[in-house]
Amino acid sequence: MDGPRPLESVGVTSKPDRWWDGAAIYQIYPRSFSDADGDGIGDLAGIASRLDHLAGADGALGVDAIWLSPIYPSPLHDFGYDISDYTDVAAEYGTLADLNELIAACHARGLRFLMDLVPCHTSIEHPWFMEARAGRDSPKRDWFIWADAGPGGGPPSNWEAAFGGSSWEWDEASGQYYLHSFYPEQPDLNWRNPAVAAAIGDVMRFWFARGVDGFRVDAIFAAIKDDRFRDNPPDRRPHAIPGLGGDAGQDPLWSLNRPEVHDVIRHLREVAEEFPGRVLVGEAYLPVEELAGYLGHGADDEFHLAFNFELLLTPWEHQHLTLAIERSEALHPPDTIPTYALSNHDQSRHATRWGSERARAAAFLLITLRGVAVLYAGEEIGMVDADPAILPDPPFDRAGRDGYRTPMQWDATPSGGFTTGTAWLPLVDPASRNVAGQASDPASLLSLYRRLLAVRRASSALRHGRHRSIFGVGPGVLAWLREADDERVLVLLNTGDGDGPCDLAEVNGGAGEIVVATTERAGTVNLDRIKLRPHEGIAIRI
Ligand code: GLC
Repeated sequence: MDGPRPLESVGVTSKPDRWWDGAAIYQIYPRSFSDADGDGIGDLAGIASRLDHLAGADGALGVDAIWLSPIYPSPLHDFGYDISDYTDVAAEYGTLADLNELIAACHARGLRFLMDLVPCHTSIEHPWFMEARAGRDSPKRDWFIWADAGPGGGPPSNWEAAFGGSSWEWDEASGQYYLHSFYPEQPDLNWRNPAVAAAIGDVMRFWFARGVDGFRVDAIFAAIKDDRFRDNPPDRRPHAIPGLGGDAGQDPLWSLNRPEVHDVIRHLREVAEEFPGRVLVGEAYLPVEELAGYLGHGADDEFHLAFNFELLLTPWEHQHLTLAIERSEALHPPDTIPTYALSNHDQSRHATRWGSERARAAAFLLITLRGVAVLYAGEEIGMVDADPAILPDPPFDRAGRDGYRTPMQWDATPSGGFTTGTAWLPLVDPASRNVAGQASDPASLLSLYRRLLAVRRASSALRHGRHRSIFGVGPGVLAWLREADDERVLVLLNTGDGDGPCDLAEVNGGAGEIVVATTERAGTVNLDRIKLRPHEGIAIRI
């Protein structure tokens, strides 16, 4: 095997089989993290130069793993989510050798390394699609989804793509339509064809053999579509959760989340099982009751983890937050672990959506809840979305996501320490929010993230413990217990703008020791007399 060895063989002591239980994963959008060669685009060497910020150094944030959004060769119609070669690195990010070095450097400091797997579609420039497109007799034709025009001469079905418009694109040369669930430059692979499953399995093996510790699996609910291309009905779903892009007003009944998707996931899992200690994190914008099946129907044979986006998509309001947490706890199958993110490269940053004044409370929520916490680079310093007025026109991303992808702000200089050249996207406000400025300030948001993550790592209750909600503690107050065999931690969070007096009769009063708070509060507290300040969170060992 070439490349670095996997982490479990280099002396990391945590349970190798479920190291992700209670882990914090840090999402890096590679174009925007750190640019080592001055071309204005982030790269692998840039990431390698910033690992001290993440783990294994004094003052590091203290995450367990990093996940890189795609770094593969791509014509960038969807910024790397349109892949033209699954087993190489795009030149602008570096080389396979750089990637090997980065993986080794991560492992040397106990940091796991996850990549993005995009199994549902390729780029129109992928050789598989170019071959498929060459003609109806091409041996690769059936690797993608082709159909004749519908009876009226238009598309074969009414399916709408995630970013708007029909999911069907006419291919003049071969006189058929091909299917694309996202942009037309992202033709959907045909997962009903076993050759596709075998080829993607080999892609996974290629990276696992290089020491990659797992994959975030992109848009998996789009893997399988109805084989008869039946028309989607109008949307009357009571609990639809908005995914990406516009709302087509249709229920994607026949085009997303089909029952056969579970065969696809089981296949991915089988491949992952060939390599010990690897994790698969599914991405699917689904209500938790449907997402639950992606974690296996009673058997541990599908994803290890799957993003529950309900929390991200919830307004910052006590009842909504309560519902999101309760649904997650109630509907996750036994022995599975919820996975939460509050921001990512597709969604408005939470400091913008919920407001910067709530950034500390949001960090506290994410890191004290039971589950895997996925941080999006920049949230630890409170980065906000770019004002559309400063963004390029025309935008890079047609779906309007440039504002969530601006470069990381390392220092207060105009380029934020991100690049010595001209950044590919403008920076938002490096002078007011940056790593260097917050690193030595104990009152900063960055210091709070570090404290929260350190406390969680050291606490069996916060990292692995069970969750039990306590209701009716006080207006606007969220409360729950995290319980392990050897430790109990009471978590209180005031979601409101006013004071939050707490009635903790249910917890039987007494005193407790504050293990972490969003404020400077520390020491012992009397549980009978707690009054939270606006947006304050405190975790108390009882
Ligand atoms: C995922 C990605 C998003 C991309 C889409 C299509 O949702 O996060 O950025 O556009 O899939 O690959």
